[in-house]
Amino acid sequence: MTDETAAAPPGDSADPPRKEWSRRSALLGLAAIGGAGTAGIGGLAYAGGRFPADRLTPARFADRFEQVYGKHAGFRRNHAKGVSAAGYFTADGAGTEVSRATVFAPGRTPVTGRFSLSGGLPDAPDTAPTVRGLGLLFHLPDGEQWRTAMINLPVFLDRTPQGFYARMLAARPLPATGKPDPEKMAAFLAEYPETAKAMAVVKRHPPTSGFHDSTYNALNAFRCTNEAGDTVPVRWSLKPAGPVGAGSTTAPPGRDHLFDALIAKVAREPLRWRLVLTVGRPGDPTDDATLPWPGDRRTIDAGTLTIDSVQTEAAGNARDVNFDPLILPDGIAASDDPLLSARSAVYSQSFTRRAGEPKTPSPVDVTKERR
Ligand code: HEM
Repeated sequence: MTDETAAAPPGDSADPPRKEWSRRSALLGLAAIGGAGTAGIGGLAYAGGRFPADRLTPARFADRFEQVYGKHAGFRRNHAKGVSAAGYFTADGAGTEVSRATVFAPGRTPVTGRFSLSGGLPDAPDTAPTVRGLGLLFHLPDGEQWRTAMINLPVFLDRTPQGFYARMLAARPLPATGKPDPEKMAAFLAEYPETAKAMAVVKRHPPTSGFHDSTYNALNAFRCTNEAGDTVPVRWSLKPAGPVGAGSTTAPPGRDHLFDALIAKVAREPLRWRLVLTVGRPGDPTDDATLPWPGDRRTIDAGTLTIDSVQTEAAGNARDVNFDPLILPDGIAASDDPLLSARSAVYSQSFTRRAGEPKTPSPVDVTKERR
């Protein structure tokens, strides 16, 4: 990906003071439904009654996506390429041990989902290493919702929003080589050594063959509270119920081969994942998504996610959902992870921008005759 056509970064000019990260800014422009947690904003201090001009704000973060990927009206600033999906979650009741959220009581909850590839290009060619995403919205009784956006990496590459913001520029491929500038990358990794460690963890978990057999991890920690009022740290994952294939090293033909395969599989039979809750122990990091928890942590198999249809993005389906990770039901709350409030605020900024823009058809068309 080159940035030759990228818009100038408005956030890099001498800006007037901007809104600080906050739950309030996170909720601006978004119809928040359900209990949303509050979270700290780690490390972004208020200085001397004014916000410094170089302060990282939701708008500046969204500007950075536009700087790196260009501006694509109507599309998400990240995970721009995707398809909408629908299905249901069948809880087996085991999750009630740690959370009183109604989604964990035995029974079925309808789900709206979205499969995506990371990056801000709606028509990026599918490649195996591109991060795969799955956003889910659980429609709980009485209008309550649980929204979560997960990816197929075992850890996140950044501990702080500032790290992600800096990495986007450092990792931007040079037009001449198609690879990041080695000097910029080395300087970035020296400043953010946690990313180098996270990259090593990611390397040990190569991608699977497609969307259908990927494990999707929420990565950020949350706090679950059960009926008795006991609270524990939890990270959740979706593990494929079917067989897992190795990723291909040579890309099959077709710009959309990963999406094509997903569409064909769902047309044949519903896809299933187990929702696994991993329970942290005291001392396990809840504020650092670059660090895996020890492998021996207790897991609870809370039930099965079934995806039985996918749709081209359109008005009224997942295209118009903001998978804000802080839209949480009673029984699940945010942890002290600084990424959570940043994500919520930037997703809201991205959602507000794209909601006000003209829409063009999604390049991933489920109804089209696939090649
Ligand atoms: C500071 C950290 C992060 C920032 C600034 C960020 C930014 C964004 C933005 C701007 C969007 C598009 C939102 C929209 O328009 O609806 C997005 C989507 C997404 N993000 Fe993040 N992200 C961050 C961390 C993460 C993490 C830790 C995960 C996974 C654990 C993740 C997974 C996803 C997924 C799956 C989507 C697509 C959801 C959908 O289909 O709408 N992101 N992200």
